[in-house]
Amino acid sequence: MSATHQLRCTNCGTRIAAEAVRSDFRCPDCKGLYEVIYPWSEGWSAETTASAEVRATDPVRLPNPGGLRHLWQERKTSTMGVDQSGVWRFREMLPFMRDVEKVVTLREGNTPLYEMPRCAEIAGVDWLFAKHQGMNPTGSFKDTGMTAALSVAVERGFEWVACASTGNTSAAMAAYAARAGLRSIVFIPEGKIAWGKLSQSMDYGALTIQLKTDFDGCLKLLTKLVQQFPIYLLNSVNPYRLEGQKTPAMEILEQLEWQVPEHLVVPGGNLGNSSALGKGFLEMKHLGLISRVPKIHVIQAQGANPLYRWYNDANKSMQPVSAHTRATAIQIGNPASWLKASRVIEETGGWCEQVNEQEIALAKAQIGAEGVGCEPASAVTLAGLKKLVAQGRVTREERVVLLLTGHTLKDSQYTIDFHKNELLTAEETAGATDVERAQHDALRKPPMVLEADESVIIKALTARMATVGAR
Ligand code: F0G
Repeated sequence: MSATHQLRCTNCGTRIAAEAVRSDFRCPDCKGLYEVIYPWSEGWSAETTASAEVRATDPVRLPNPGGLRHLWQERKTSTMGVDQSGVWRFREMLPFMRDVEKVVTLREGNTPLYEMPRCAEIAGVDWLFAKHQGMNPTGSFKDTGMTAALSVAVERGFEWVACASTGNTSAAMAAYAARAGLRSIVFIPEGKIAWGKLSQSMDYGALTIQLKTDFDGCLKLLTKLVQQFPIYLLNSVNPYRLEGQKTPAMEILEQLEWQVPEHLVVPGGNLGNSSALGKGFLEMKHLGLISRVPKIHVIQAQGANPLYRWYNDANKSMQPVSAHTRATAIQIGNPASWLKASRVIEETGGWCEQVNEQEIALAKAQIGAEGVGCEPASAVTLAGLKKLVAQGRVTREERVVLLLTGHTLKDSQYTIDFHKNELLTAEETAGATDVERAQHDALRKPPMVLEADESVIIKALTARMATVGAR
């Protein structure tokens, strides 16, 4: 039995030994999801897992904050793969692997934190940074979770792994499985994910199955299948995924010299990522690495907003919705981790907002125009921040970090359609203000098609360069 960690049901609180978890990662009593806890976590109970003998030889060790910061910094210059990984560099915070030699890494993490002065001005704050998780090896934040959970699959001797996905999880899983020599199965909703993401899962050799349903339908079916076959489930119901996905919290703090920002704004789909980041910050507070945590705000697309509805529902009952948004990564109507995410919002003092299609498109173009770029689902963060500022939940002088989850090339069709003015329907732009419409127009940069003739080009350029505001 492992004495390094336990699993605790986030719904009923039951603790189990890590090895005792069912293949669907649900509590048999209440169907709640588990979280990983360590000897240094709040609520750890040695009795649950370890024998008296193990307890005697393995006392609870609480990492020392000063020592940890130094060690994590020092590892940046190491040539070892696990040290070069922006996840495993922080391995004292995720000590569940018995053998770190078994870790499967593509040197994930270590992503940039960009200053965003123009977006700051647009949103009405003085200080805005973007943590770009799209700069991971497969182009999304999923890599940080996949290195963690897929390494567990390897350690437990699985040959097959699988996930349901809106595209990014599948890309990450396929890549990490290929690195480890495991076989992977992807369930994706047919016609509802960006082509670039679909191509990734094929490129990395996954068995790709498109189903005539939505993401929620895919996950439901896969959850049944993993109970019949020896397949390791790699959706974010797998609590080890969230362990990897909590490490950007450490990176952000390192990048800010351990100055805690007041706000972190995160997109919400299946709600694993907001849960993971919250866990990361709260654990660091518990360990004394920081004295307070940022408020974590979750932003959903208006057409895929079950958490937002739950938040605004006086009865607080979670109702799945039929999800529709062009930000296909977060087109999820029945988020698995809603309870975990709602607790993170509550514990950190954050908020849940929704943004519509034209607000997402505008914010995405504004992030692109800052030279950073992101996929549509990531842009909900800037769109949401504008609302949080307007509502007075974020004030001008407070420091804000946006979490950009996917690379702009993940969904290039969306970008091309926006610039050609072929993206949004009249219905989707109906609620836009005149200012917003003008902003859309000013940001559009459709490609010019010209004769390959010098004089034609000069004429066109001269006209363009004379246009006020053209850049
Ligand atoms: N942003 C991007 C780019 C995503 O791909 C996802 C989720 C999210 C945000 C939302 O994160 O689900 O943890 O709340 N994508 C999953 C997938 C569902 O299958 O790739 P979440």
